[in-house]
Amino acid sequence: MSKIVLQTDNLSKKFGEVTAVQSINLRVRQGEVFGFLGPNGAGKTTTIGMVLGLIHPTEGSITLFDQPVTPSHNRALQNVGSLIGAPALLPYLSAQENLQLLAKLHDGVENGRITEILDLIGLSQAADRPVKGFSTGMKQRLGLGAALLHRPSLIILDEPTNGLDPAGMREVRTLIRQLADEGTTIFLSSHLLHEVEQVCDRIAVIRQGQIVAQGAVEELLSQSGQSVKLKVKNPAKAGELLAQLPNATKIVTNGAYVQVSGVESETAVAHLAQNGIIPSEVQSQKSDLESLFLELTK
Ligand SMILES: Nc1ncnc2c1ncn2[C@@H]1O[C@H](COP(=O)(O)OP(=O)(O)OP(=O)(O)O)[C@@H](O)[C@H]1O
Ligand SMILES: [Mg+2]
Repeated sequence: MSKIVLQTDNLSKKFGEVTAVQSINLRVRQGEVFGFLGPNGAGKTTTIGMVLGLIHPTEGSITLFDQPVTPSHNRALQNVGSLIGAPALLPYLSAQENLQLLAKLHDGVENGRITEILDLIGLSQAADRPVKGFSTGMKQRLGLGAALLHRPSLIILDEPTNGLDPAGMREVRTLIRQLADEGTTIFLSSHLLHEVEQVCDRIAVIRQGQIVAQGAVEELLSQSGQSVKLKVKNPAKAGELLAQLPNATKIVTNGAYVQVSGVESETAVAHLAQNGIIPSEVQSQKSDLESLFLELTK
């Protein structure tokens, strides 16, 4: 398994009475695209602010490349590039001039690197045009390019496709994937499930400041299926029968009830009825993750 490059332990932030982030434990591995998925107000930007040493945690710790990060000790951040929201660009300067200016914030960014980045972000042809004439997607790619100037090995992006049209989103996603394929670790936040599905290897799902799931995207999606709770005369026998269904994942019996995950209620009831068991009560239940995913896709 790859090395962990970013880790948070019981990381929490309160703004007065408001708990924005509550005891979160993130593990981001080298070379992956890690998605931080959550609805508006879930605590994504606050978490990113703490990771970047901009916001003081109320509790907990952050480890970046095996070094602690605090607002006063953040040397590890030299190896991080970030883009939070829309990039700060000077509108009357060209793409190339903006990059040249931003390169001065770092040591030793040679001119060749700027040419290389313009090519990578697909703006070589537009390099000499003033940024004020750029589309939102072009500006966002330029912002991403600026975050790459010093060749960071981790890039942190807060909602990088926010405000882009579908084509712009696709361009940014393609670029992210390309960077990952070249070995850069990427941490990105999003409130769009289909976006993280398309671009991320692993995700953490945050809701009301808490991590409700973390793992490979496919794994989490398969876990998020609905479950059915049935009241039957013989729950143990019913459990055995339900286990025969191909998609049944988890079966729990409790008193007069049996609960099965990954199966539609009609399928469960029909299967039991075929085997002589008629449930006296049927309750469809959505997992926390599924209801969150519904919220994120609607
Ligand atoms: N400086 C602040 N002072 C007080 N409350 C804050 C502050 N910053 C964030 N919050 C609150 O903390 C919670 C988390 O906010 P945060 O911006 O981290 O969410 P988010 O997941 O980034 O949301 P969005 O998708 O809208 O960007 C919200 O309830 C927000 O109102
Ligand atoms: Mg935010």
